[in-house]
Amino acid sequence: MSAPVPTLPLLPRLSDRHRAMLQEMGVPIWWPTAADAVGTGAAAPSDPATKDERRATAVPDPVCRPVEPTRPPPNHPVPTSAPGAALDHPARWLPNLAALEAAVHDCSRCGLAQRRQRAVPGMGDPRPDWLIIGEAPGEEEDRQGLPFVGRAGQLLDRMLAAMGLTREHRVYIANVIKCRPPLNRNPDPLEIAQCSPYLLRQVELLQPKVIIAMGRFAAQTVLAEGGALSPEAARQWPLGKLRGQVHRVTLGGLSLPVVVTYHPAYLLRSPAEKGKAWADLCLALDTMDGLHPARAAV
Ligand code: URA
Repeated sequence: MSAPVPTLPLLPRLSDRHRAMLQEMGVPIWWPTAADAVGTGAAAPSDPATKDERRATAVPDPVCRPVEPTRPPPNHPVPTSAPGAALDHPARWLPNLAALEAAVHDCSRCGLAQRRQRAVPGMGDPRPDWLIIGEAPGEEEDRQGLPFVGRAGQLLDRMLAAMGLTREHRVYIANVIKCRPPLNRNPDPLEIAQCSPYLLRQVELLQPKVIIAMGRFAAQTVLAEGGALSPEAARQWPLGKLRGQVHRVTLGGLSLPVVVTYHPAYLLRSPAEKGKAWADLCLALDTMDGLHPARAAV
């Protein structure tokens, strides 16, 4: 008896645009081109990316591995970076996003206020599915009053595009720190303590479905404030240990999944890590798909 002839699976195809975006992010693509796939009966390219398309870009081992169910929060106390700082913070009482933005523009709760050109509250869809959290404004953000508009922001836009997203639709972008630290130095703990209540109130008002924390300071703040890690653990664990999993936090009365990934500015300096960042974005997309099974079937 002859051995059964193996049948080729139907190959999902990447649209040229999607392929270009992944290449832009520096993610190697080994899947056939649209021309290679002619005659295979493969599905027509679709945009935004489907789960299968994301899996098709897996490097070096499948980067979109099945998502582990999110873990329940351990019994760590919910910290505040400086005791009492969040409790009397005006951000706790801001009734809506417009009031919060106005308060951020007027804020003088730390020394950064004196040197800023503009505060940067955040931007995007006021009813977002996604909340992207970065660190602090840089020079260009300080000039324009908008988050992620410099070189790192251009890469963030390409990362969002690779996810089938834009910064205006279904996405809100905010930072832990709303004013630029001089010479783009790291924010200090007091600045984070004074500023993070604005971010926490943003979470409460925006009610996103999935948070992506980009870089060490965003990850530390969100995971520690959200009770997923003790402040010590959040400070000590390297980003490489925090990424690659779905954390569960409780913020603004909501239980939310958080995916940690590298900051776009770091990826500009270390392009070899872009593949890992793409894996994190796949994990985030799979997490969202798990919340919206209908969308996963696109
Ligand atoms: N880096 C950030 O973390 N945020 C910005 O808004 C810009 C650069």
